[in-house]
Amino acid sequence: MRAKEILAQMSVKEKLMLTSGKDFWHLIEFEKYGIPSIMVTDGPHGLRKKEGPGMGIGDAVPSVAFPTASCSACSWDREALGKMGKAMGEECVAEKVSVILGPGVNMKRSPLCGRNFEYFSEDPVLAGEMGAALIKGVQSTGVGTSLKHYAANNQETFRMTGSSNVDERTLREYYLKPFEIAVKKSQPYTVMSAYNKINNVPASGNKHLLTDILRGEWGFNGLVMTDWGGGHCHYEDLNGGLDLEMPGNKQLYLKETLKAYKAGKISDEVIDRAALKVLELLEKTADIASANATYDVAAHHQIAKDVALGSIVLLKNEKNQLPLKANVKPLVIGEMAEKPRYQGAGSSHLNPQKLDTFLGALQEAGIEYDYEKGYEAANVKDESFIDTAVEKVNKDQPVILFIGLTDDYESEGSDRLTMAMPETHIKLAEKILEKSKNVVIVLSAGSPVELPFESKATAILDAYLSGEAGADALADIIFGKVSPSGKLAETWPLSKDDVPCSDTYALVERNQVNYREGFFVGYRYFNTANVKVQYPFGFGLSYTTFEYSNLVVDGNKVSVDVENTGKVDGAEVVQLYISNKTKATIFADAELKNFDKVFLKAGEKKTVTMTLTDDDFKFFDVAKNEYVTAKGEYEIRVGASSRDIKLTAKVKKDGVVVDELAKFKGSWFDTFKGKPTDEDMKLLGIEPIHETTVRKGDYTLENTAMDVQGSGFGKLFYKIMLVAVRAALGIKKEEQDLIQNKMMIDSALNISFRGMSAMSNGIMQLWLASLLVKFCNGFSRPSKKKDNK
Ligand code: BGC
Repeated sequence: MRAKEILAQMSVKEKLMLTSGKDFWHLIEFEKYGIPSIMVTDGPHGLRKKEGPGMGIGDAVPSVAFPTASCSACSWDREALGKMGKAMGEECVAEKVSVILGPGVNMKRSPLCGRNFEYFSEDPVLAGEMGAALIKGVQSTGVGTSLKHYAANNQETFRMTGSSNVDERTLREYYLKPFEIAVKKSQPYTVMSAYNKINNVPASGNKHLLTDILRGEWGFNGLVMTDWGGGHCHYEDLNGGLDLEMPGNKQLYLKETLKAYKAGKISDEVIDRAALKVLELLEKTADIASANATYDVAAHHQIAKDVALGSIVLLKNEKNQLPLKANVKPLVIGEMAEKPRYQGAGSSHLNPQKLDTFLGALQEAGIEYDYEKGYEAANVKDESFIDTAVEKVNKDQPVILFIGLTDDYESEGSDRLTMAMPETHIKLAEKILEKSKNVVIVLSAGSPVELPFESKATAILDAYLSGEAGADALADIIFGKVSPSGKLAETWPLSKDDVPCSDTYALVERNQVNYREGFFVGYRYFNTANVKVQYPFGFGLSYTTFEYSNLVVDGNKVSVDVENTGKVDGAEVVQLYISNKTKATIFADAELKNFDKVFLKAGEKKTVTMTLTDDDFKFFDVAKNEYVTAKGEYEIRVGASSRDIKLTAKVKKDGVVVDELAKFKGSWFDTFKGKPTDEDMKLLGIEPIHETTVRKGDYTLENTAMDVQGSGFGKLFYKIMLVAVRAALGIKKEEQDLIQNKMMIDSALNISFRGMSAMSNGIMQLWLASLLVKFCNGFSRPSKKKDNK
């Protein structure tokens, strides 16, 4: 093989050079060996390709904006995700991009995570399956993917410096599971390590995660790269299992790593492994850089629409208010009808090919309408448009009301503080609902929002962020061309306070993020603890009805008959859960293990067959350090949502006898009263970590500008950085303490000196970063007590 031949000819220095990128978006080339450079770029729901250096958010080449992951996951449709992936791959080939950075399969620990729109689900099986389908689609074109962010990257606050402290069982069964499924089913060409640490070990050099589990246990044979600026000490990262540090930064680490090699801190074996992985990736994808291809923009736009059509969720439809008749002349209210919110902010933000609007879709369909904007995204606090819109409402004309979250409310880099929509959107909805019962509410947001007016509403559709063709898809659903078939890929809580980690999420715990609730996240918590929710996981209505019958469990094969008993064609997502009844230890009420989406014409009946594997009955036994099956009884549940189980069957399994339930008696895992505490977390076999302040003299490259304010120089440095960040974010000084602004600023300043250096494109060399740290330390010796990071 050529990669191995080239490796054999290379010097250690050359091999190490391969393990760092060339610039922001390219890998290094070696003319001498005929190695070309390749381009890797975002992802994950469409191509964001920047010409030239830099991050390039906002000025990427045009590409089709597919629905974001939080939306497309609601399709529960592997085939649709496969088509979308293939289309994304074709766009990459046309733009000479060898690897697209995605998909993101992180779990939604809290609905407040600013990046939830980029993630599929709160359920590892659904996220893993959607991820695998997308990867297979992309990679069928020869383009590679980067499964991200591995792992336990579940908040944006302190995202580059935080440690996710999580017990081994929860890690294995919940946070790693979607990665395991995607890796085993689709072998992504690359995996991207997360910014955060896991139990205080950086993800970028985490031997347990990268070497033992990813490569050793799951058989991953691709390359591991850092998230952008997310590397730590490079030779330690390589030792842990990393192969490539990104972005490229004029060989920032070369000197230090060569020194480490000479001192025996990194072996030839490790360097060869990493360099070979880079060479293999180049070998697999190099042709793309010279490909001469185009793609069919209209066909890809149609794929984006099809995915949106299968993903939009009908949350409420009293008295069959929907679909509307085409001749009703609706009153459309809400600026999002003319300026749709269809994608999220941050590194996934791309430049769409053809952006549909709802008003445009009505015009194209020849449907007459009246329109009032009701609010403006640019000035979301301005209430002056509300009354004009409400005045137009009359009980004879159906209202289609667009509300949701604007870009400022959810973004990569910061977390939401509440689940509330902007005040203006809520007021507008409440006033309209007071005047009319004939209102269809369309929500556009990357995550669930509080719905204080829900009981007064009769029809609610959730469009999530449905991509450039989402508005067109909405029109088809609202006017009945297509029956909605999306089902929620996450629980919709009534309030953020209902979520187990809500008392500490993002704000309270600085850097040390203790996952006290274990795997009781999402429906695993809500359904086990019997907590009222707005809408359960897996829920979504249709214009037709389905009947389930004849459940047969034959070994690991589960089949069920599903009949469309309504008057229109439609698709149903059939969900298969297992409830572990063995009482061996604590278990969630039930866990999703498989699903299928079946299209049925009106009156049609089909048998849906889904398979289980032996692993689906196992849990991770920490003492044995392996998955085991507990001996006893299990309930197989088939349903239309996690709380709408249609048929069940009992099966018995042979296995080990485990008896550790007693130790949880009276704990939060038993009573679910209040919030989980440190003592509860300890029952999971892990000590919570509490951060103490880092002192002057102890600062290292891993500290941030925020950390170093205990020194005069550090304070000054922080102030300079603050001014620069404020300017970059366009935030006025007098508004910097407004809570959402503060979050954004904190998030930008929460980058370590090493991270600043890695993102500086060679401007801030490592020696300069080290010098700054020394100034902050006042050139004093580190105190005996090492910093606690
Ligand atoms: C994000 C990654 C992204 C990378 C490159 C990082 O800040 O976390 O998801 O792929 O930037 O834009």
